[in-house]
Amino acid sequence: MNVTGFSANDVKFMKLAIRLCKQGAGYTEPNPLVGAVVVKDDRIVSTGFHRMYGGQHAEREALMDIDARGATLYVPLEPCSHYGKQPPCADFVIEKKIARVVVAAQDPCPLVNGKGIQRLRQHGIQVDTGCLEEMYRFVNRHYFKYAGIEKPYVTVRAGVSADGRLTDRHRNSRWMTDRQLRLMSHSFRGEFSAIMAGVSTILEDDPYLTIRQDWQGKFLYRVVLDSNNRMPDTLNIFRDQDVSPLIIFSSKNAADKKKKSSHHYFISPALDPECGGLDLEEVLVVLGKLGIASVLVEGGGALIDSFLRQRLFDEIILFTADKLVGGRDSVQLLSTGVVLSEAVELENRQIIPLDSGYVVRAVKARHPGGS
Ligand SMILES: NC(=O)c1ccc[n+]([C@@H]2O[C@H](COP(=O)([O-])OP(=O)(O)OC[C@H]3O[C@@H](n4cnc5c(N)ncnc54)[C@H](OP(=O)(O)O)[C@@H]3O)[C@@H](O)[C@H]2O)c1
Repeated sequence: MNVTGFSANDVKFMKLAIRLCKQGAGYTEPNPLVGAVVVKDDRIVSTGFHRMYGGQHAEREALMDIDARGATLYVPLEPCSHYGKQPPCADFVIEKKIARVVVAAQDPCPLVNGKGIQRLRQHGIQVDTGCLEEMYRFVNRHYFKYAGIEKPYVTVRAGVSADGRLTDRHRNSRWMTDRQLRLMSHSFRGEFSAIMAGVSTILEDDPYLTIRQDWQGKFLYRVVLDSNNRMPDTLNIFRDQDVSPLIIFSSKNAADKKKKSSHHYFISPALDPECGGLDLEEVLVVLGKLGIASVLVEGGGALIDSFLRQRLFDEIILFTADKLVGGRDSVQLLSTGVVLSEAVELENRQIIPLDSGYVVRAVKARHPGGS
């Protein structure tokens, strides 16, 4: 059955399940965002969502205290079939005598990957898959990348002038964007498992890279790429490591091999000497092994340039101020650049207008050139 085979009520209840799942955003990784809606005689009898990593799954929360015999369960991700931090949801759905399960997408996690659906069907439950699958894959895009290849979803973020400068010609970026844009930019941080910056940004701006608002109890890693291990440990980035652990990457060729945090990795330099710095593929593999499913790359220009040129990013968020700055010596968004035939194509663009600028958010095109 595909999306056209679903009734208007199926689509309505699945939309609600997807909306519910978004409430867990920023807290569930590396687990997925999942919501659940239980319906009997076309009426909603219960709902639930996965609130935080290690916590109860959405299906269990929705079904726990109700008589669900003969009901339909709307759950965007296939119920799990294995013991992890929680027992298998498929078994609980069977135990609760649900008659029909409507699913948006199969779980890409190799431990599940169709086994949950199979188990339900083996117990006589009707399972219909593919309801609003594209919508759910987009909402849960961090998970769908991470669960498939165990590397984090990479979002590049920058505050730029209307002509694409991150700083002025004196390398000053402090007031590039106004308070409204900066607050919004901070609030985006909570959606991710880690924030990353190049060492020049850390040395020049001395940022904390922590979350200051809205995201209570949120655990966030901070990542710095410092090939030559030159950060003095008096910088602000070394503070608050109990809630925001610091991960440092340096080159295995660095003269100084002193570890400056409990997560300090000495890795290969970039294969392409034109890119300079460290091998970003290796950085992503290490982060994936730490269970980090998403990274927000906050600059500066050189690091963003490397991610864009090597196409190792998945999404970009530009906080664009209504200002022109110009200047050959200002830090540019894509200073090295690519030829037009290799332009990085974007899709799924969203534009949010604000008082003194706008936010553009778009994902890297899956099939550049429409091929
Ligand atoms: N407007 C904004 O949103 C915004 C955001 C952030 C920063 N900024 C500004 O940007 C300026 C810093 O930008 P920047 O371009 O000079 O430096 P950067 O991107 O912050 O840091 C670049 C440095 O990171 C290290 N690195 C390690 N691996 C790398 C890799 N694979 N690719 C690139 N770099 C790698 C390299 O130093 P080593 O080889 O020594 O390790 C490199 O020189 C600051 O003035 C800051 O204020 C603006």
